[in-house]
Amino acid sequence: MPSDTVTFVPVDKVEGQVAVPGDKSISHRALIFSALASGISRIEHLLIADDIMSTVRCLRMLGVDIGLEGFTAVIKGNGIGGLRESDDILNAGNSGTTARIMLGLLSTQDFFSVITGDGSLRARPMKRMTIPLLAMGATLDGKEHANYLPIAVRGGRLKGIDYKMPVSSAQVKTGLIVASMNAKGTMTITEPVGTRDHTERMLKASGVDLKTSDKTVQLACSQRPLPMTMTVPGDFSSAAFFIGAAVIARRSDILITGVGINPGRTGMLEVLKGMGASVEIINARFETGEPVADIHVQASQLHGITVQDKRIIVSAIDELPLIAVLAAYAQGRTVIRNAEELRVKESDRIKAVVEGLTALGVKAKELEDGFWVEGGGVRGGSVSSCGDHRIAMAFAVSSVASEHEVRIGDFGVVSISFPEFMGIFNRVRGV
Ligand code: S3P
Repeated sequence: MPSDTVTFVPVDKVEGQVAVPGDKSISHRALIFSALASGISRIEHLLIADDIMSTVRCLRMLGVDIGLEGFTAVIKGNGIGGLRESDDILNAGNSGTTARIMLGLLSTQDFFSVITGDGSLRARPMKRMTIPLLAMGATLDGKEHANYLPIAVRGGRLKGIDYKMPVSSAQVKTGLIVASMNAKGTMTITEPVGTRDHTERMLKASGVDLKTSDKTVQLACSQRPLPMTMTVPGDFSSAAFFIGAAVIARRSDILITGVGINPGRTGMLEVLKGMGASVEIINARFETGEPVADIHVQASQLHGITVQDKRIIVSAIDELPLIAVLAAYAQGRTVIRNAEELRVKESDRIKAVVEGLTALGVKAKELEDGFWVEGGGVRGGSVSSCGDHRIAMAFAVSSVASEHEVRIGDFGVVSISFPEFMGIFNRVRGV
């Protein structure tokens, strides 16, 4: 096992009050839209983690002035025409969101760019982004007809299209909206199932006229956002690990404050409710156009469930590995279907979660588009994060009520989305 193996001992309970770092999806968008606005934007409670630093690095290489102090970013945007050709290859690191939105942005620029990423990102499909960009008039090339990074881009003034996305993806939807900002005509984007709408909410708040319905976004091209002042809500996907840990560790009681509860993100709450968990949303409010609340969770006996409704799958997509872990503590079998997208995340998350659970003594099986997990508890043992931040944290949660300790290899990868995870997790576990 690599040197950053971390051992987690079982605990009695998780308790206390927790605030989680800023939302990753919203942090990427806030930086990118501020860079495209003309003027000074100020973002508070920005997530400071490897993925966000990938976006910061790419924008700086394109000439954007971004000042970071603590969790505050001050961005001096020069407008969409104010970017300059980078001296070197842009690197999106592990971040699919950076790569896909930047492909949209670079396609609007009349200069040459090459964008790449780490080994995981170079294996993830980009065709879902490059096919519509080519249809809009961008010039792009890369391996397998621009399906894999590195991808070379020569952009310019594009034309708006009416695009029906074959796969629901908020990253692609956002990349296309960005591409429309230096295009002619009208842009219409329709998803099979609507995804998280952070982009739409943020752009509406910054003066962009967008028509939105469940699955469709339409806008007149060439609209640009105004500079913004915003506070990023806590990341539901980070809060999810504490929600999950509190549900399964006996005698737990936890309050997580200031969490974003955008309906495109909170499918896990619907799944947990269906499994019998005690999760309460309190103090619901709006902050800069996003719904935010505190979440109160108590230990609960779960029962197995079958989830195949695409809307729930899409809005729980990043939490499905964690749901697999929680299912190991339920009574009966949990089945997840229609979740084939998990195979093209930071790792093949269907394989990673089933192999890991099996190594921890749980009966689980891969399905082409999901998995099943038989409840009954977690024995303990050694697993790998598979280089995937969410797999690492999901298995850390598996330890709170396991029989023996859980050792997780390559745990440092949590810095991708949640560098503070260990500190907060130890505090609520009382270790
Ligand atoms: C994200 C969208 C989702 C999600 C990812 C972040 C975003 O990916 O899994 O973690 O910020 O838009 P897809 O757009 O590929 O579904």
